[in-house]
Amino acid sequence: MFDLERFIEDCRHARAEDESHKAVREVVNEAITDPGAVFAALGEPREAGFKELYRSDSLTILNFTWAPLMTLMPHNHNAWAVIGLYSGREDNIFWRKNGNRIEAAGADSLMPGKAVALGKDIVHSVTNPIEKLTSAIHVYGGDFFADGRSEWDPETLEEAPFDFDKSRRIFREANARFSSA
Ligand SMILES: [Fe+2]
Repeated sequence: MFDLERFIEDCRHARAEDESHKAVREVVNEAITDPGAVFAALGEPREAGFKELYRSDSLTILNFTWAPLMTLMPHNHNAWAVIGLYSGREDNIFWRKNGNRIEAAGADSLMPGKAVALGKDIVHSVTNPIEKLTSAIHVYGGDFFADGRSEWDPETLEEAPFDFDKSRRIFREANARFSSA
């Protein structure tokens, strides 16, 4: 049984008692032990996007849904992150900074049922490699929507300020491709 209000409360308490990601990761891990229960509580996703479940200066909780085969360009969060998938798959490429550009440094393929933590300085790009929607809860140890974040052009790999309008457009375009497929 997954209760969203209780989950948010548990994340808030975990964040308050632990500066690091560890206590929150335990909360997320426990929540997604039963991915079907999260799926049932949050509702079957119809389209890609990111929905705000909770936001403060020190904690952001988002419900992410990725369209089939969509990719989001490399970006940072300026905060640790805990990612808990409850359906589908998320392929992450991790990038290392090299001057104004980045180079690929590692990868992880996330699956439902196990929460994964990303460090504060991580730069990653995300692909949903399957032909179904992928859904996850993302928890950040800061304000995800605060200024100061960066994204990197997927073609030139050059850094630029993170552009939320552009990200929302990428999700809209992914939905349009998905619905016309
Ligand atoms: Fe991210």
